[in-house]
Amino acid sequence: MGETAVLDLGNGPIRLPIITGTESERAVDVRNLRSQTGFVTLDPAYVNTASTESSITFIDGEKGILRYRGYPIEELAENSTFVETAYLLIHGELPTAQQLQDFRHTLSRHSMIHEDMKHFFDGFPVTAHPMAILCAMIATLSSFYPEAIDPTKDEDTQLTVCRLLSKVRALAAYAYKKSIGQPFMYPRNELSYCGNFLQMMFAVPAEPYVVDPVVEKALNLLLILHADHEQNCSTSTVRLVGSAQTNLFASLAAGICALWGSLHGGANQAVLHQLHYIHDQKIDVKKFISMVKDKNSNVRLMGFGHRVYKNFDPRAKLIKRSCDELLDHLGIRDPLLEIAKSLEEAALADQFFVDRKLYPNVDFYSGIMYRAMGIPTNMFTVMFAIGRLPGWIAHWLEMKNDPETRIGRPRQIYTGANLRHYVPVRERTAALQH
Ligand code: CMC
Repeated sequence: MGETAVLDLGNGPIRLPIITGTESERAVDVRNLRSQTGFVTLDPAYVNTASTESSITFIDGEKGILRYRGYPIEELAENSTFVETAYLLIHGELPTAQQLQDFRHTLSRHSMIHEDMKHFFDGFPVTAHPMAILCAMIATLSSFYPEAIDPTKDEDTQLTVCRLLSKVRALAAYAYKKSIGQPFMYPRNELSYCGNFLQMMFAVPAEPYVVDPVVEKALNLLLILHADHEQNCSTSTVRLVGSAQTNLFASLAAGICALWGSLHGGANQAVLHQLHYIHDQKIDVKKFISMVKDKNSNVRLMGFGHRVYKNFDPRAKLIKRSCDELLDHLGIRDPLLEIAKSLEEAALADQFFVDRKLYPNVDFYSGIMYRAMGIPTNMFTVMFAIGRLPGWIAHWLEMKNDPETRIGRPRQIYTGANLRHYVPVRERTAALQH
């Protein structure tokens, strides 16, 4: 046994292995603790629990570092495309020119959804949230590929992966088209991944549509920045659901549901609502910050704070810069951007935020960019899901291909009633009446 930690729970010391990651992160391996001692560890919200070893994404929250497969997010943001980054996350290495061309080709060939699937959109009321539609449609996609439903027998997992990465754009864009009563637009495979999505979202059959290269580039950046973030709530959900040998479609649908929450991916929508509220009610930024600091108000500054980052979220820095560029290009002066900047300035100078190490996160400025692109607020979390898909897939594959994977099954500490015996309802009622 290598390095160990010594733990004494009253019956003499036991040795627990220490695991060290490639970036020198250290963990005490407690997997045999219960069988050795009868104790379990209690860690609500998994604040201190590494649920797996993983070689996909590295975060140093103290230093504000994010790397996919070793590559700094800043370099990928500057030089890569979303498709190339997706390949990197899923395969572990950047592709050669031929591999990239083949990957792009496969994605393009699988961009359409089955014609029968279009009818499913008619079943949703116009009030349906697009996240509800997306998660239903991703799970529904499995019914068109029954050969991929048993992950232990799926002979062409890479094809399943490409189908999902490609079709998610049509599913998302159709959810939007349905909500505004416009006809669905077929994909145009000569366009890039992002250009094709923009075309399905915003083109109409009545006139030609030209993709704005600056908008396309900005979308590409946003998707790269969202592509993975190690064991967050939705990724952990995908892995947990997948650990039951659940197929990829269903595991991703579960991840989409987890992402929907406003403390997670839903925060980008919540940020915009908050900025609108401040704008429409003409609330002074300093006053709003006081409301956030007041524990009785139950108001949080959405798009601020992070479980892992105790420093600037590197994604937020990149998004802020790109946000200015995009709005300049489109000639938009968005009062919500001004409010966001004032909020950031006020928060970063305030002791409450300094003490708690609360900085803007990925969701703080992304919504302003999506809004400038013409994407409606209720589609923001859908955009996050499109970006996160390669990360979820990479984690699902890593889990599936690991021979040590077992079904995820946390323990608990029971705090309920001790043994008691059943009393028939008549006697219970009589007892209550006396
Ligand atoms: N506004 C005001 N106070 C905050 C905020 C915030 N946004 N975030 C954390 N705090 C305070 C919190 O009240 C607590 O204070 P105290 O110690 O006095 O009780 C302290 O900071 C620690 O907060 P926590 O809730 O224990 O931290 P957490 O790690 O459990 O939660 C978080 C992380 C991201 C859920 C939280 O910071 C938050 O609610 N942020 C707003 C929602 C948001 O922007 N979510 C997106 C996260 S990034 C992208 C993603 O994951 O999808």
